[in-house]
Amino acid sequence: MSALPRTLLVCPVCGEPLTGADRGLACPRGHRYDRARQGYVNLLTGKGSPFTGDTAGMVDAREAFLRAGHYDPLRSALVAAARTQVVSPGVVLDAGAGTGYYLEGVVGAWPAAFPVALDISKTALRRAARALPGGISILWDLWRSLPLSDGSVDLLLNVFAPRNPAEFARVLAPGGCAVVVTPRPGHLAGLELVGPLLAVPEQKADDVVGAFEGLLVEVHREELDYVMTLPQDLARSALAMGPAAHHASSAPSPTAPPAAPPAATSGPDAELRVDARFTVQVLARDQPARASWAPAGQGTEE
Ligand SMILES: C[S@@+](CC[C@H](N)C(=O)[O-])C[C@H]1O[C@@H](n2cnc3c(N)ncnc32)[C@H](O)[C@@H]1O
Ligand SMILES: [Zn+2]
Repeated sequence: MSALPRTLLVCPVCGEPLTGADRGLACPRGHRYDRARQGYVNLLTGKGSPFTGDTAGMVDAREAFLRAGHYDPLRSALVAAARTQVVSPGVVLDAGAGTGYYLEGVVGAWPAAFPVALDISKTALRRAARALPGGISILWDLWRSLPLSDGSVDLLLNVFAPRNPAEFARVLAPGGCAVVVTPRPGHLAGLELVGPLLAVPEQKADDVVGAFEGLLVEVHREELDYVMTLPQDLARSALAMGPAAHHASSAPSPTAPPAAPPAATSGPDAELRVDARFTVQVLARDQPARASWAPAGQGTEE
C-alpha cells in the first residue's frame, strides 16, 4: 500500500482524504480502518451492507476456473479494448473485482498502474489482495457512494458485476474510460448437461448504454465468441461460480443458439464443449464537438 496515491481514497465517514497508516488507512479526523490479516481493508462502517456478494464456494469455483485459463482470451480482449482509449493508466479500479483476475491482466500490461479491487465478498477480496500486492483491495458496497475522489480513476473495469453508473462517471478521470463485460445469449451453452443455466437477455449491452445515458457514451463495442473444452470438474466450477449458483432456473434463453456439441458424452473423463459469448464495451465521457475552423472569408457549409 506504500504507493497509494495521496488523493485517491476518501473517508466514507467524513469525506477527508485517506492515507496509509500502520496496518491500514486513516483520515485527518482520526477515522481509522484496519487492514485485515488477509490483506484487504474494510471501509464498510456501521451496519455494513445488506449485500454479501459471492459466497466462499462461488469464489473457490471462480478461482479454479479462471486459473485454468479459459477466460484468458477475454482478459486479453479487455486489455486490448482499454488500449483503444487509454495510453498508460495510473489508477485502475475494478468494481466488483472478485479474485482480481482482470486487474492482474491490466497490471501485466501496464506495470506502473495502481490497481484498486473493490468487492463486497471477503472471500473474493482475500484472493484479490494476494494477487495484487502492489495495489489495494477494499471491502465496499457498489450501491453506495464509492470511497474514491472525483476524477481519480483512469481505467474502470466492470466484469459480470453490478454497475453504479452515476458513481462510475463521478470517479472517472476526464480522459479515462470504463470497460464493461457482459455475457450474451448462449453464453455457457453446453453446460446444461451438468446443471441449469440462467437465460441472458438479448439486449444486455444496449441496457448498459441506456444505464449510462447522460453520463458516459459507448465509444467501442465488440463481441467475443469461442468454444472452451472443459473437463467435468471445471464444467461444474463454471456453473458454481456464476449467477446460476444464486438462483435456480432451468429455462434456456429462447434466442440462445444451439449448444456446442459435447466433445465426449460419458465417463468420468468426459469433456464438454462449452460456448463463451461476451460483449466488451468501452465507455467514456462525451467529447464536446470540435468547433470547425475555416480560413477567413471561406465559411463552412451548414
Ligand atoms: C460474477 S462475480 C464477477 C467477479 C469478477 N469481476 C470476475 O469476473 O472474475 C460478481 C462480483 O460482484 C460482487 N458483488 C456483488 N454485489 C456487490 C455489491 N453490491 N458491491 C460490491 N461487489 C458486489 C460479488 O461479490 C462478485 O465478486
Ligand atoms: Zn474521516
